[in-house]
Amino acid sequence: MKIGLLKESVVDENRVALSPDIVKKLCGKGFEIKVSTGAGDNARFSDDLYREAGATIVPPSEALDADILVRVRKPSQSEVAELPRGSILISHIESCGLDDSLKTLLDKEVVYLAMERIPRISRAQAMDALSSQSNIAGYRAVIEAAVQYGRFLPLMMTSAGSAKPARLVVLGAGVAGLQAIATARRLGADVLAYDVRPETKEQIESLGAKAIELDIGESGSGEGGYAKELSDEAKARQQQALADELSKAHVIITTALIPCRPAPVLITEEVIKNMREGSVVIDLAAATGGNCPLTEADKVVVKHGVTLVGHTNYPSMVPSDASAFYGGNIMNLLNIMVDKTDAGLVLKDLEEDEITSAMRLRAES
Ligand code: NAI
Repeated sequence: MKIGLLKESVVDENRVALSPDIVKKLCGKGFEIKVSTGAGDNARFSDDLYREAGATIVPPSEALDADILVRVRKPSQSEVAELPRGSILISHIESCGLDDSLKTLLDKEVVYLAMERIPRISRAQAMDALSSQSNIAGYRAVIEAAVQYGRFLPLMMTSAGSAKPARLVVLGAGVAGLQAIATARRLGADVLAYDVRPETKEQIESLGAKAIELDIGESGSGEGGYAKELSDEAKARQQQALADELSKAHVIITTALIPCRPAPVLITEEVIKNMREGSVVIDLAAATGGNCPLTEADKVVVKHGVTLVGHTNYPSMVPSDASAFYGGNIMNLLNIMVDKTDAGLVLKDLEEDEITSAMRLRAES
């Protein structure tokens, strides 16, 4: 069974869907891997490393001619045109509905397995790329904050003077938020965190941060570990109740998300005006409108003396490990998709497994 690996076509995407270590493991399982020339260059994986791992280095058109094409991001229109009819494509689809390029793929009877649709169940954890990549984003967001903030995060006492630890608030204690809390604690900041799901309090405190508790009149717990959208009254109460804590923060890392909805506004312009000059807001929700309306996607802007960072692809800034984790997710997924027989690897019925069935894109989805 042939797997194709290409360089990502999205500009500034440094990740690649399989690292050489994962390629080696897949070759050991009986897969044949075709890697297009330079596929891993941006993730610091040379063609030689892939060759040593057992892959064949080929031109892009040959890598596309595979039984299974693995990617991080959605393929370009020209790649879509070249994909063999009936092949399997595994990648993020980066949308909640179907756009024209996705419809073209379905017309070609390509079986498209969307990484965003992996159900949040324990059996699927090892394949959950949204979580593996959000973890990296949470870590990298704190590193970005440390770089953008003109002061120390930890307590510093030197003969030349001393500095108090930064007061760092994390909003949203899901995967990215919890990793941001852990990283900020390791760097010595005083960390406070808030999530609309009350069950996160224990996790926040277990990482050594203080949980901010608010009475907004309703619970935000939704299905599958995600939040549900709040009523307009609860949203207003939440903004009001958070304003005081947020105004006192020196760094805010905000990650609040509701799947397939615009990001909730948690940080108003009034809060930004009241923050100390030189403070920093890292808005991980920038791609879906931001948790602060002053954030601009893919830009770093200074407003009312506060630096707002709107990068939308932190995992791509840690490309080697992000690719290795993503590749691990893909390998675990491939493990449930094939059977090893005397005649070689055989594809299972993807409809029979709840994970691959949930991931599969259909015309009506
Ligand atoms: P997640 O679903 O694990 O966590 C989101 C958390 O936000 C949940 O705990 C949820 O309860 C909380 N939340 C939702 N509404 C809230 C509200 N009104 N107030 C307080 N908390 C609220 O999601 P994950 O994987 O941690 O991702 C978080 C965000 O980071 C998403 O917006 C995602 O798109 C973004 N992200 C951004 C990246 C970047 O490079 N900028 C990379 C990866 C993820």
